[in-house]
Amino acid sequence: MSKEVIEKAPAKINLSLDVLHKREDGFHELEMVMTSIDLADHLTLKSLPEDKIVIQSNNGFLPLDQRNHAYKAALLVKETFGIQLGVEMLIKKKIPIAAGLAGGSSDAAATLRGLNQLWKLGLSLDELAVLGAQVGSDVPYCVYGGTAFATGRGEKIERLSDIPQCWVVLVKPKKGISTGTVFSALSYESLQHPATRSMVSAIENQDYLKMTQLTGNALEETSIIRQPAIEKIKQKMLLFGADTALMSGSGPTIFALCHKYSRAQRVYNGLKGFCNEVYLVRTLK
Ligand code: C5P
Repeated sequence: MSKEVIEKAPAKINLSLDVLHKREDGFHELEMVMTSIDLADHLTLKSLPEDKIVIQSNNGFLPLDQRNHAYKAALLVKETFGIQLGVEMLIKKKIPIAAGLAGGSSDAAATLRGLNQLWKLGLSLDELAVLGAQVGSDVPYCVYGGTAFATGRGEKIERLSDIPQCWVVLVKPKKGISTGTVFSALSYESLQHPATRSMVSAIENQDYLKMTQLTGNALEETSIIRQPAIEKIKQKMLLFGADTALMSGSGPTIFALCHKYSRAQRVYNGLKGFCNEVYLVRTLK
């Protein structure tokens, strides 16, 4: 049995996010296109002989108990496969928390991949994704990573080609937003519906220009009402020359896409003076 496994847990951005309707189970039917970016947490997993789950992190704001998606994933694996061993996890957090970047979901997915290796479970990614759906709607996507079209409550995944490589500038406003709060505040009559399926075609055609014209997020308006800074940051990004700028997930993080590095640097430097948490990264293959 291998003693230690290290897993990378990349963040995602939503190039398109549409809300179709509210379902009877309380979740919302979605159509989304997501892609992984080179901003990642790192998880180190060690098997323990005792039956316990221990999480440590460099980030003092991260819950280390059942509220943590990685904890939930480890518990689910133990219960599903009747594993009496325990696990010690060190989560080196780089992805902002409650930011719309699926940091918690990606940690859960990395836990599933890591335990699959550590405990030699022999599960396929598809099987891990089915397990992941019990932890959270974004976890199945995070099991695969890359670029994908997601439907259902976000758990049905169709993998797409990588998007044309570009630079991503991210700005995380200080206050986080809870996904549940944003969904429950949605006003359906005024929802903006982005052309998510056209985004899928633009990616299949590797048409970067079209992609930047099609970015859209049905949750953006509701989150802007709660945090007007989102709109201000978006406008600043466009002013500094971003090819497009959009809120990711339920926010509050806003991302800008830039084909040219010099342009991305200008957006990064321009926003750095305005906000504390600004990142410049690449998309991930
Ligand atoms: O699945 P997850 O735990 O990540 O979802 C967090 C919350 O976001 C849910 O409790 C629900 O309120 C909302 N949500 C939703 N529709 C989805 C995904 C999430 O209403 N498709």
